[in-house]
Amino acid sequence: MKILQILRRKLSSSQIRSTATPSLYLAFFYRQLHSSSNPASFGVAFDIDGILLRGSNPIGGSPRALKRFYDDSGTLKVPYVFLTNGGGVPESIRAEELGSLLDVNILPLQVIQGHSPFKQLMRRFENELTVAVGKGEPAKVMSEYGFKNVLSIDEYASYFDNIDPLAQYKKWTDKLDGNQSSKSKHIALSNDPCSQRVAAVFVVSDSVDWSRDIQVLCDILRTGGLPGKEIAHQPPLFFANDDLAYQALFPSERLGMGAFRIAVESIFNAIHPAALKYTSYGKPNPSVFKNAETVLMHVLQSCHTNHQVDGRKQFFKTLYMIGDNPSVDIKGARQAGSPWFSILTRTGVFKGKENHDDFPADLVVDTVEEAVDYILSKECIS
Ligand code: G3P
Ligand code: MG
Repeated sequence: MKILQILRRKLSSSQIRSTATPSLYLAFFYRQLHSSSNPASFGVAFDIDGILLRGSNPIGGSPRALKRFYDDSGTLKVPYVFLTNGGGVPESIRAEELGSLLDVNILPLQVIQGHSPFKQLMRRFENELTVAVGKGEPAKVMSEYGFKNVLSIDEYASYFDNIDPLAQYKKWTDKLDGNQSSKSKHIALSNDPCSQRVAAVFVVSDSVDWSRDIQVLCDILRTGGLPGKEIAHQPPLFFANDDLAYQALFPSERLGMGAFRIAVESIFNAIHPAALKYTSYGKPNPSVFKNAETVLMHVLQSCHTNHQVDGRKQFFKTLYMIGDNPSVDIKGARQAGSPWFSILTRTGVFKGKENHDDFPADLVVDTVEEAVDYILSKECIS
C-alpha cells in the first residue's frame, strides 16, 4: 500500500492527466527496478540557442537539467544530443565549449550542427576550390570534414584588390590583415585562387559582413566561380540552415542565416538573368531528425557498452525534441513523426502564453529544466 502511495505521488507530479490504475503503478515499479541497468528506450535532442544558452549565458536552469542525465560518477545514463542550426566551429571544439559553459562532459558525437551534413558533400568537392562563409572558423570546419582546397571568404576576398569598395571604412579589417598567416592552412596554394574556378560555396555560419559577403558571393556565383570575369553558369550554393531569426542575448530575435539568404537571393535575382539556385540544410528538414535518431543510437551504445542494441530496428519508443522556435524545432519534430515528441519552451523565439497556432508542440513549458522534469517523470527515472 505504501509503495502505491509513493508511486501515486510520483505519477501525479509527472503531469500525466489520465487516472492511473494499479496495473499502471505496477508497470511503473517494474520499470523503476530495471531502469538502472537497461538502456533507456528514449532519447533527447536539445536545441541550443534559446533553450540552453542565450549568447554564452546558460538559461532556464540548463546546467542543472543536463546533470540529471548523468549518474553520480558522471557517466551518461540518458542518450542525448545537441541539435542546433548554429555552428562556425568543428563539432569537437563546440563540444568542449558547451561542456565548460554547461558544466558537463560532452562527446563531439553529441554535437549536431547546421553544417554537419556538409560532410556528406566532401567526396564531390574534395579537391576543388571551395569558399566557406560565416563567423568563427568556417574553413577549419570544412577542412575537418575532408575538403582539401577550401578558403574562408575573408581569405578568398583578400586575394582580390578592391573587391570590396567599402573595405577602407571597415575598422575591423585591420585586425583581419594581422591574421593573414592563417591564409594557406586550408588550401593547396599551387595556383593563385584568383585564377582558380570556385566549384561551390558553403554558408557555414552567420555572415559577419553582409555587404562584403553579398558582393563577393554575387561575383562568384554570376561568373561561374571566377570573379571579375564574364557571366557563366552558377556554381552550387549551400546554406547550413534557413533560420529567419534566432534568440541571442538581445530581448527580441536577431536576423539569422535565412534572412541573409533572402538578401543574397533578392539581390542576385535583381542583377542576374537566371534565378539563384541553392540548397538549405538544418532543422526543420526531416533528414536532420532521421540523422539525430541514428546519432542517438550511437550515443546510447557508447554509454551501454555491455548491451547490444540492434540498430536496424527502431529502438527508441520516444525521442524528445526540446526547442524554442515553432517554425524550426517544432515543425521539424512534427514532420519527422513517430517517435518524435515536441516540447516548446518560452525562453527563446516563442514567448506565447498558450501553444503556437501554426506549429503546436506536444507540450509547452517555461524552461528546459521543466522539460527535463517532465521527461524523467514520464520515463520513470528519478
Ligand atoms: O545561428 C544559430 C541559430 O540560427 C539557431 O540556433 O541552437 O536555436 O538551432 P539553434
Ligand atoms: Mg533555438
